[in-house]
Amino acid sequence: MPRGGGLMAPRVHPLLLLLLCTLAAPAWPGSGSEGDGGWQRRGPGVPAAVAEEERCTVERRAGLSYAEFVQHYAFSRPVILQGLTDNSRFRALCSRERLLASFGDSVVRLSTANTYSYQKVDLVFQEYVEQLLHPQDPTSLGNDTLYFFGDNNFTEWASLFRHYTSPPFGLLGTTPAYSFGIAGTGSGVPFHWHGPGFSEVIYGRKRWFLYPPEKTPEFHPNKTTLAWLQDTYPALTPSARPLECTIQAGEVLYFPDRWWHATLNLDTSVFISTFLN
Ligand SMILES: *[C@@H]1O[C@H](CO)[C@@H](O)[C@H](O)[C@H]1NC(C)=O
Ligand SMILES: *[C@@H]1O[C@H](CO)[C@@H](O)[C@H](O)[C@H]1NC(C)=O
Ligand SMILES: *[C@@H]1O[C@H](CO)[C@@H](O)[C@H](O)[C@H]1NC(C)=O
Repeated sequence: MPRGGGLMAPRVHPLLLLLLCTLAAPAWPGSGSEGDGGWQRRGPGVPAAVAEEERCTVERRAGLSYAEFVQHYAFSRPVILQGLTDNSRFRALCSRERLLASFGDSVVRLSTANTYSYQKVDLVFQEYVEQLLHPQDPTSLGNDTLYFFGDNNFTEWASLFRHYTSPPFGLLGTTPAYSFGIAGTGSGVPFHWHGPGFSEVIYGRKRWFLYPPEKTPEFHPNKTTLAWLQDTYPALTPSARPLECTIQAGEVLYFPDRWWHATLNLDTSVFISTFLN
């Protein structure tokens, strides 16, 4: 039987074609479609400062080898790694609906969003999602803002975390440890430092500000990153500016040992860090 050429092509109704194209189009983060995992809610007043940087000054690398990572970044500068791992399964399990269905009743430990004094508060996960996941008020202090990041119960949430593939780049003498979190638009952690690690965005966008260990930034440890961005950042001279970039879902930022960093969630974000301790 001859193979059908153009004449044999099945007739597709234009409306069906349109529907197929719509279904095939990738959902864009923040568009309110399924691509945001159901995390973006329309809500009142997101401050204007909750925006991406004018120019990303952290290198982005796709297909970086481990040798290149060790030689050029591991001990010297941050880098954004693309296409490192495929966490689409984990991402699907992290939709608002799936997480609430699986862990709505479990208790999460929240920390205050300031630099030093991490006061802890325990709250039922569903209450955190429904009541505390609102946009950050730019006038409130970091030490008065509760943030869900880290202090995870890996026994209770094992069915989720076993699906996370961490960045495959280790560092000699360190052990990886996960910190998982979800936080509202405009929230973040102000400047602090610790050991090296990776941070991956699962849903939403996260803007990063980084300084090398010898360049202590000017900041108030109880103010939010948002307040720092509005009050301090605009007056910085070009040489006093941090390295900065906004990472998107699926990207992984690496920060070296003792680098100062502050974060700002540009959307309601789901994220996970792998700390190398
Ligand atoms: C938060 O920090 C401010 C300024 O550092 C301080 O005045 C205030 O008492 C602190 N609030 C709490 C709840 O500790
Ligand atoms: C920050 O807030 C904490 C309480 O949350 C307070 O003990 C500390 O003194 C404050 N730090 C500064 C520099 O105001
Ligand atoms: C983790 O969750 C389990 C089950 O709910 C609970 O028994 C255990 O005490 C929790 N562990 C911690 C460290 O909170």
